[in-house]
Amino acid sequence: MNNFQFCVPTDIRFGKGQISCLPEELAKFGNKVLLVYGGGSIKRNGIYDTVRELLTEFTLYELPGIEPNPKLTSVREGAAMCRQHDIDVILAVGGGSCIDASKHIACSAYYDGDPWDLVKDRSKLTKALPIAVVLTICATGSEMNSGAVITNEETNEKLEINAPILYPALSVCDPTYLYTLPARQTASGTVDIMSHVMEQYFQKNDGAYLTDRLSESVLKTCIHYAPIAMEKPDDYEARSNLMWASTIALNHLLTVGKGGAWSCHPIEHELSAYYDITHGVGLAIITPAWMHAVLSEQTEERFAMFARNVWNITEPDNRTAAEMGIERTEAFFRSLHMPETLKEVGIGSEKFEEMAAEAVRTSGIAARAYVPLDQESIVRIFESCAG
Ligand code: NZQ
Ligand code: ZN
Repeated sequence: MNNFQFCVPTDIRFGKGQISCLPEELAKFGNKVLLVYGGGSIKRNGIYDTVRELLTEFTLYELPGIEPNPKLTSVREGAAMCRQHDIDVILAVGGGSCIDASKHIACSAYYDGDPWDLVKDRSKLTKALPIAVVLTICATGSEMNSGAVITNEETNEKLEINAPILYPALSVCDPTYLYTLPARQTASGTVDIMSHVMEQYFQKNDGAYLTDRLSESVLKTCIHYAPIAMEKPDDYEARSNLMWASTIALNHLLTVGKGGAWSCHPIEHELSAYYDITHGVGLAIITPAWMHAVLSEQTEERFAMFARNVWNITEPDNRTAAEMGIERTEAFFRSLHMPETLKEVGIGSEKFEEMAAEAVRTSGIAARAYVPLDQESIVRIFESCAG
C-alpha cells in the first residue's frame, strides 16, 4: 500500500429534508450568495422555490443556465458577478456541471486575469470563495472532491483544475431530489460512478486490499440499484444508495494506498470536448473498448479478480474469467440503454487522431496509466467502438 494523505473537509448533510440547514450554514460565510444552477430542472421540480424560501434573509444573485459540460464563458460571467457584487459564498444547486462551474468561479473571483489561466498554470490557484452544494444528480462526486472540469469552447479543450481550496464546504445530498431524474441521466450517472471506481481499481498497486474490496462494493451497489432507480424513480433505498456511492466513488477514499493516471476519462473528455456528448454516455462506449484493448497476460489477473468479485463469475481460468467480466460489464451498460458505438452518438472518425493526440498531451495516460497508451493505441480504441 502506498503512503497517503486523506483529508476531506466537506460537511455532508445526507437525507430527506437536510436542506433546512442552509440558512444557518450559509450565514457562517456572510449574506451575499451567488446561486448557480442549470437549464431549469430545479424550477420544474420545486428545489429552486425551496432554496429561495429558505434564504429570504440573504441577498441572492443568480447565475442560471450552466450547461452540461460547463463552458468557460459561464465561468467568466460568474467570476465577474462575484467581483461586482462582492459575493460571500457560492451556492451550486445541480450536478457536476453546476458544481464544477462554481468551483472555477470561486477561484477565478480572486484572480485578475482570464479564468483559463488557472487551468494552464495551477500555481495561480491560491484562493477561492466558499462553495456550498445542493446536489440534484449523482454521478461525478464533485460534491465532495476538489476537482472541476471546464470546457474551453474556443479551443475544444475540456480540462480539470484541482486544489484543496476547491472542496465544497457543505453539500446537501437529499436522495428525494433525484426522483425527477430522467432514466437516461440515472443511467449515465451510474456509468460515471462505476468508471470512477474502475479508474482507481485498475492500477498497478496490488497491496491496497481494503481499498479494492471497498471499490468492489461500490460497483455492486451500482449494479444492484441502478436498474431499480430506472424502473421506479422514487425508490428511496435505490436513490440513497446510488447517491452515497457517487460521493465515495470520487472523494479520494477509493484511491487510498493506490495511485496512477486514469485511462477512460482523458479519452472521454476529448469526446465531450469536441462533440458535447454526455460524459457518462461517452464512458459507456469507451470503457468496454478500453478493457478489451488492455487485457493481456500482465493484466488478466486483476481483470479476473474484478470478474469474480464484482460479477460473481466462478470460472477458474484467469483469462476466461477476465473476458467474461468484460462481457458482463458491456451487457450491463447495454441493459441501462447506453449506446455502444461512437456512430450512435454522431461521432465519425475525422478527429480520432486529433483527439487521441490531445488525450496524450493533456493527461498522464501515456506515462502513468494502468497500461500506458500512446496516440496510436488510443486511435485503435476509438476505431474498435466506432460502429
Ligand atoms: O441543467 P438542468 O436543467 O438542471 O438539467 C440537468 C442536466 O441537463 C439534469 N438534471 C440534474 N438534476 C436533475 C436533472 N433533471 C431532472 N431532475 C434532476 N434532479 O441533468 C443533466 C446533467 O447534469 P450535469 O450536472 O451536467 O450532470 P453530471 O453531474 O453528470 O455532471 C457532468 C459534468 O461533470 C464533469 C463531467 O465531465 C461533466 O462536465 N465531471 C466532473 C468531475 C468532478 N468534478 O470531479 C469528475 C467527472 O469525471 C466528470 O468529468
Ligand atoms: Zn467521470
